[in-house]
Amino acid sequence: MRFSAGNSLRFTSRSSYARHSPMTSSSADIVVSFHQVQLSLGGRLILQDFSLDIRRREFVCVIGPSGCGKTTLLRLLAGLLKPTSGQVVHEGRPVTGPSPDVAIVFQDYAKALLPWRTAAGNISLALESAGMPKGERSDRIAALLQKVGLSQHGNRYPAQLSGGMQQRLQIARCLAQEPAVLLMDEPFGALDAMTRQSLQDEVARIAADSGTTVLFITHDLDEALYLGDRVVALKADPGRLARLVDVPLARPRDQLATYEEPGFHGLRRSLFGLVQGNHS
Ligand SMILES: Nc1ncnc2c1ncn2[C@@H]1O[C@H](COP(=O)(O)OP(=O)(O)O)[C@@H](O)[C@H]1O
Ligand SMILES: [Mg+2]
Repeated sequence: MRFSAGNSLRFTSRSSYARHSPMTSSSADIVVSFHQVQLSLGGRLILQDFSLDIRRREFVCVIGPSGCGKTTLLRLLAGLLKPTSGQVVHEGRPVTGPSPDVAIVFQDYAKALLPWRTAAGNISLALESAGMPKGERSDRIAALLQKVGLSQHGNRYPAQLSGGMQQRLQIARCLAQEPAVLLMDEPFGALDAMTRQSLQDEVARIAADSGTTVLFITHDLDEALYLGDRVVALKADPGRLARLVDVPLARPRDQLATYEEPGFHGLRRSLFGLVQGNHS
């Protein structure tokens, strides 16, 4: 694990518009690849011939009907599952197990946080397990709390925080790992609409500022289009790629203007049937 000196986060600043600078096809720009990945569990084909290259700093959203294999894709990339055939490659090496370079934000924030540790203590856990000296932790924790808007809540326990705050805390704990790749599995599915919108904007900002590559799973098509540089639509039975679309909407995205952009509705229409489980 890499930690920079002092209290500044290692994250390099960059314009969020950089996401739309032309990408070269150089393999150095590819941070994650699924190569013809096939997965069977208990004799059942779960994922069929799935291939995808994810570029560095890209924000890729995955949508598809329930049971189509979205979480399975994430678990394969996190090294929690092995493909039956094919390969998942991260930074040029096959994924063989979990890595601190890949962090996961789960939908169920209540289960992801330690209830007996304060917000600061939960973030500290990631730093402790990475071996960060005690003297350096408090500045880092303060910076992370600030990044997710929880500066005033470091001494509270998870049960004393709202759902949105708990999810912010889980995100901060993942960022403490300084992951190159952030995996998010329907992270806002349990939150009310207003909280969800503000967290969408925060995650977009954090990803843009930090240069983290994000694989974001959602069953909400609007959320996928709002956040993604590309959207991967999966079909079910067996799980497989249905469509892959670029989302050339202006950044930074805006909760009013983005949805009113001329291109938005065409993208929405082209993916709508796939998300409903209509395989035609
Ligand atoms: N450990 C497992 N053993 C057998 N089947 C599983 C296992 N985990 C998931 N599945 C099956 O794989 C399919 C894809 O699951 P999942 O990736 O969780 O779907 P999604 O996240 O898109 O809802 C589902 O049909 C599910 O029942
Ligand atoms: Mg799932």
